[in-house]
Amino acid sequence: MSNLSAEDVKSWYNQHYAAKGLQTMRPHGAYPLFLDLLGARAGARLLDVSCGAGSLLAAAQVRGLQSVGVDLSDEAVRLAKRVAPTAEVAVGAGEALAFPSGTFDYVTCLGSLEHFLDMGQGLEEMKRVAKPDARFCIMVPNQNFIGWKVLGHQGTAQQDINEHLMPLSAWRRLFEKHGFSVVRATPDRWHAVRWRSAGARGLKRLLIGPLLEVAWRLIPLRWQYQFVFVLQRRDQASRGRRTP
Ligand SMILES: C[S@@+](CC[C@H](N)C(=O)[O-])C[C@H]1O[C@@H](n2cnc3c(N)ncnc32)[C@H](O)[C@@H]1O
Repeated sequence: MSNLSAEDVKSWYNQHYAAKGLQTMRPHGAYPLFLDLLGARAGARLLDVSCGAGSLLAAAQVRGLQSVGVDLSDEAVRLAKRVAPTAEVAVGAGEALAFPSGTFDYVTCLGSLEHFLDMGQGLEEMKRVAKPDARFCIMVPNQNFIGWKVLGHQGTAQQDINEHLMPLSAWRRLFEKHGFSVVRATPDRWHAVRWRSAGARGLKRLLIGPLLEVAWRLIPLRWQYQFVFVLQRRDQASRGRRTP
């Protein structure tokens, strides 16, 4: 059990965003993929829990979704308001979402649940504010990532702040325990393809980047860096899905 408070986590992230600004996370081009996985449709309402600097909100706006973001960090919210000016963004904890039940068609939480002080409460809140037939996209890190085994250390770039690492089976169990069923679990391939958008040149573009990408694609899911889960409520799993 962590001795940290929500204020500690907030202050850590405030310093992180104040120091790094928009350089802090992946570039905007890495985010539409999550909307593809959800099959997100224009006009639907999407909540991004722990929206960070707002890149997913911006991608959702481009697709014509009504996007709403919440993050514990005021600095993140300040950036998100710049990046996604027409989204509704507010400071708030994922464990206590300030929305009525049954509001959203899609709920996302990318690279963040593992930093929650109470992951179970966070999942219960995501389920509560979602419509009964909503889809969820949650990306979380893999304790058994093969790269960490090779390098001899564990943890993401934000490992210093309350980071829960779990293997594939434990994440599945956590989601199932909180009433979700897994529609799909895919690897997060961003680090395999980032060389393409990083403007790599010469040998890196012609050889190293493509080779690393192929190698990354051959890694089985259970050893990948992060998992991207698409979920639905378990009580809806056997029913047909309504179009939002
Ligand atoms: C690694 S960043 C990811 C941000 C964003 N989802 C992205 O993909 O760029 C983790 C985010 O989770 C937020 N966070 C951590 N704990 C939180 C909590 N309990 N409730 C809401 N946000 C939280 C942090 O402030 C930070 O912005």
